[in-house]
Amino acid sequence: MNIAFLYNVRHVYPDPKDYLNQVAEGDFDDPITIKWQIKHLKKLGHKIIPIEADEKAYLKLYKLKDKIDLVFNIAEGKNGRDRELQIPAMLEMLKIPYTGCSPLTQGIILDKARAKEIFILNNIPTLPFQVFHSEYDELKKELKFPLFVKPVSEGSSMGITNNSVVNNLTELKKRVKKLISNFKEAVIVEPFLTGREFSIALVGNPPKILPIIEPNHNLLPKKYLPFDSLEVKWIFEEEGANADYLVCPAIVDKKLRDKLHKICLDVWEALEIDDWCRIDIRCDEKNNPYVLEVNSPPGMIPPEVSMTSYFPLAARTAGIDYEGLLKKIIESAVKRYKK
Ligand SMILES: Nc1ncnc2c1ncn2[C@@H]1O[C@H](COP(=O)(O)OP(=O)(O)OP(=O)(O)O)[C@@H](O)[C@H]1O
Ligand SMILES: [Mg+2]
Repeated sequence: MNIAFLYNVRHVYPDPKDYLNQVAEGDFDDPITIKWQIKHLKKLGHKIIPIEADEKAYLKLYKLKDKIDLVFNIAEGKNGRDRELQIPAMLEMLKIPYTGCSPLTQGIILDKARAKEIFILNNIPTLPFQVFHSEYDELKKELKFPLFVKPVSEGSSMGITNNSVVNNLTELKKRVKKLISNFKEAVIVEPFLTGREFSIALVGNPPKILPIIEPNHNLLPKKYLPFDSLEVKWIFEEEGANADYLVCPAIVDKKLRDKLHKICLDVWEALEIDDWCRIDIRCDEKNNPYVLEVNSPPGMIPPEVSMTSYFPLAARTAGIDYEGLLKKIIESAVKRYKK
């Protein structure tokens, strides 16, 4: 097939101390990642047309629309709170088939609060929450400290650091103010969970659930609080400081596994996800799981660049190598369009 590969490339590597650089390109992929992704796609026997998902992407897609059989979309989009839906929306308009979710689903997934509203309507367990548009908004009574504060529409732990946990109103206001001023978007506040965390990758049509990943927060050095902050994802995991940090397959008893699997399938259905996604879930101290958020398109860094990229790691554990995983995503999309 002629496959156009739509991506966003990073020009600056995020610095956990520098919020503004993160805002611009935190979710984007490094040039080396893009290079290897293209190599792997080519090895599957396809002709690959790389297109950067920037302001000129529409012009290129328009020109090539009759030559493109499928778009492999890992683009995050550029500018605005709905940026992840930009490329799928262009592709819908041009009638070009593509991998992954529709514009509507992409738009909802990027906004953690909107996604949670859909979970609540569908009886999918998620934490109570409040969206703050200013530090002067009044905290709902049902939300009790300690609380967790994060930007409503970011990924890759942008804006999530040791300071994300707040213990009183003064700390909450300070954090809300800082995040709003740095990210120029609303902030979501919810209870701070300290139980087990799971990240679950799904692929296919209908979806197959890959082995569950569990970051073992007990192995984090004392200076990190027990969650996947920016520092943990970008420094600790990448340094490979502790090879046992990401457990896959996670050791879960049948009851919990069944519960997690059901939640994932319910999320897939409620959000009308296509082809692939990764669902992040965290438990309270009594092992009750709550959906934190959904990642689409999820990070997909090839093994030549990182061995800790969650989706490829879950696939490897299931005996599916990187190219096998790309093939599954492509086949899933092709099957959908054949219907
Ligand atoms: N309410 C919470 N209680 C405890 N920990 C949380 C909570 N919300 C988020 N976290 C921690 O912060 C991490 C990042 O949060 P979340 O997954 O919502 O953000 P993200 O930046 O979209 O992540 P991703 O890297 O998956 O795109 C989680 O993996 C978890 O460790
Ligand atoms: Mg996450």
